[in-house]
Amino acid sequence: MADGEGQGTVDGFIELDGVEKVFDVRRKAGFLRRERHRVRAVDGISFRVPRGEMVGYIGPNGAGKSTTIKMLTGILVPSGGRLRVAGIDPARDRTRLARRIGVVFGQRTTLWWDLPLRDSYGLVRRMYRIPDARYRANLERCVELLDLGDLLDVPVRQLSLGQRMRGDIAAALLHDPEVLYLDEPTIGLDVVSKAKVREFLRDVNAERGTTVLLTTHDLTDIEQLCKRVMVIDHGRLVYDGGLDGLHAVGGSERVLVIDLERELPPITDVPGARPVKVEGPRQWLAFAATQSAAPIVAAVAARHPLVDLSVREPDIEEVIAKMYADRKAL
Ligand SMILES: Nc1ncnc2c1ncn2[C@@H]1O[C@H](COP(=O)(O)OP(=O)(O)O)[C@@H](O)[C@H]1O
Ligand SMILES: [Mg+2]
Repeated sequence: MADGEGQGTVDGFIELDGVEKVFDVRRKAGFLRRERHRVRAVDGISFRVPRGEMVGYIGPNGAGKSTTIKMLTGILVPSGGRLRVAGIDPARDRTRLARRIGVVFGQRTTLWWDLPLRDSYGLVRRMYRIPDARYRANLERCVELLDLGDLLDVPVRQLSLGQRMRGDIAAALLHDPEVLYLDEPTIGLDVVSKAKVREFLRDVNAERGTTVLLTTHDLTDIEQLCKRVMVIDHGRLVYDGGLDGLHAVGGSERVLVIDLERELPPITDVPGARPVKVEGPRQWLAFAATQSAAPIVAAVAARHPLVDLSVREPDIEEVIAKMYADRKAL
């Protein structure tokens, strides 16, 4: 089949090569005057996602995340570059692609506002011509895992945000899509709903091998679900790799919290570590997150009367915030 049609190439089920999206906007520039203005929402992004991977796609507001997802579904046509999902050009073959992808936008529902969930699902079933047995099995599974049993006969508009989101996720999965795009699926959800959604996504990815692209503001989602994370800023990919590597790139530090037998001057004789705080017999020593804690602990223990110690991991939110700040400083 030409162009890996229907399969995607071996390394890329989702493939982007130099993808761009430019919006032409008119904005007010004085009385009656309108100024044309170009927004480069996505500015030359390339990446590949192999089948079955669950990848985080994060970045600050306005970075171009939703625009990327809309191009991946075929809702928006790229201004430049090449894009393939399962070997399909989304903008050219949107309907054919629709059968193979599922999409959830956290900020707006794809369900019918006045209908109970059950009826919405019935419409989805007809839309995708899902065979009976498969529909029933998928629905049953979603109802069980997303705890939708009591909600099926409630009109969507009466659902809480967390309930509605779970309903939306189920709707996106009834036709067994091979790829699932999630744009902020946990936004505004309470802790319990978040946990349920995460657990469900982990199951779907593990059991069905569904490829997942996850955009989120909640970095805990990424930490709990994704080995790989892509960071986008001003329409450009600024990082693509593991979470550990993100710490290295962000130049973050871990902190050793040391309880000494007594109050002592700040510890300055441990190579690779610097004192950051002293509070009575307790001291805080920072060291590079990429460095092993063992030699530092050993050095402290050899030279000072140690009672207890613990290592505090860097907070990923700090790492990301620092990354953005560093880029602005460039
Ligand atoms: N339809 C549109 N028309 C004009 N500008 C848009 C449109 N959609 C998005 N943008 C702009 O493109 C940039 C990226 O937006 P978006 O992809 O929604 O970012 P994110 O999802 O990362 O917050 C922003 O500057 C946004 O204002
Ligand atoms: Mg967005």
